[in-house]
Amino acid sequence: MAIEIRSPSQDELLAAMRAGEASFGDAPQEDDVERHRKTMPEDRFLAAYDNGRPIGTAAAFPFELTVPGGQVRAGGVTWVGVLPSHRRRGILTQFMRYQFDDLHERGEPIAILFASESAIYGRFGYGIAAPSLAMGAERARFSLRDDPGATGAVRFLDADEALEVLPGLYDRIRQEMPGMFARTREWWTENKLADPERWRRGAGPKFFAVHEHDARPEGYAIYRVKNEWQNGIPQSQLRVLEAFGTSAAATREVWRFLFGIDLVARVESHLFDPGSPLPLMVRDMRSLHLTVVDGLWLRLVDVEAALRVRSYAPGDTIVIEVGDALCPWNSGRYRVGESFERTDDAPDLELDVADLASAYLGAFDFHALARAQRVTERTAGALARASALFRTERPPFCPEIF
Ligand SMILES: CC(C)(COP(=O)(O)OP(=O)(O)OC[C@H]1O[C@@H](n2cnc3c(N)ncnc32)[C@H](O)[C@@H]1OP(=O)(O)O)[C@@H](O)C(=O)NCCC(=O)NCCS
Repeated sequence: MAIEIRSPSQDELLAAMRAGEASFGDAPQEDDVERHRKTMPEDRFLAAYDNGRPIGTAAAFPFELTVPGGQVRAGGVTWVGVLPSHRRRGILTQFMRYQFDDLHERGEPIAILFASESAIYGRFGYGIAAPSLAMGAERARFSLRDDPGATGAVRFLDADEALEVLPGLYDRIRQEMPGMFARTREWWTENKLADPERWRRGAGPKFFAVHEHDARPEGYAIYRVKNEWQNGIPQSQLRVLEAFGTSAAATREVWRFLFGIDLVARVESHLFDPGSPLPLMVRDMRSLHLTVVDGLWLRLVDVEAALRVRSYAPGDTIVIEVGDALCPWNSGRYRVGESFERTDDAPDLELDVADLASAYLGAFDFHALARAQRVTERTAGALARASALFRTERPPFCPEIF
């Protein structure tokens, strides 16, 4: 019997969530269902049914994503899973097609996701759009270079206070940072501020700390401590879940605070901003133990709308020919720059939609794509012109897996 893809009814929700979680070897808890109802619109959660039984799920949060020079609606793809009994029969492929058509109809030109495995999504036109760093820093070797001395003060907040202070601060930061998305109040209460025991993975509760300068909030950190002692020596890990400042000075003070916490040996962050000033602020960059991870993947569901909404640096326009086997409405030529249009003019550059996604937020320029043989230059100098147009002030970053 053919596989049917549709949104489960409210009565069918728990069974569908069980199938989705089971594909990760897990099971939903009661509070997961409540959380899900509050943050995921019913018609954006999909299940695949075989003979009436759910055997996989996929979903897309309604996000507003910061792109260079603007904000755009984007589907935050999540809950992707197919039961081991049904793997490699094309069900993920069916989900992907269904989602692209659905997002296209809804007028959401972009889909974004974090991949459980890096090899899954390239074939569907996703490209690595905001690579991230992971940090496992040695606290004992932390030292700031040319340290101007501490400024301002840090204050702890409980979850209710955090709900008053952090969203406004976050918003100031995310509007300037391609790759970040807007958070609803429910996103804060259900995800960022919520702290069920099983999310702790052996660590303690979430702490919320705000850095204030002249009584104005300028930075914050959310973290946990995993206590550990070896032969009587404290070896705890500090797990930084999020740390931001609105300025270089505030960022420095937030990290000064985090690296100052006693009993901690390692300061860890699974998603560390590649545009952070910290590596250039410390005396010993190597002691931060930074490694690169693929981070945020992006799919241009509607190339025209997505290219139109972002800004470009001044420079000559350029014609880019985009190939897209899965979303044929995207295949074609686009004149990009100060003016924007679909065109029949000869292309200066040719590339696949997944590779354009890697350039879209500013993570990779066209020279980098060319070095990896991901773009063809048809007009001499086109790589340099396109790189100049797409140039951004900072690398994109998405601080949160969803
Ligand atoms: C990843 C997963 C959803 C794939 O579902 P699926 O229905 O088996 O995928 P499909 O049959 O549609 O596969 C489509 C193609 O992708 C490939 N593919 C699928 N999963 C892959 C993986 N994990 N790594 C590499 N390639 C993969 C398939 O080989 C197939 O390639 P082909 O077209 O060349 O034959 C499923 O294996 C799963 O649930 N895994 C565990 C949970 C998980 O990791 N979910 C993703 C969260 S981001």
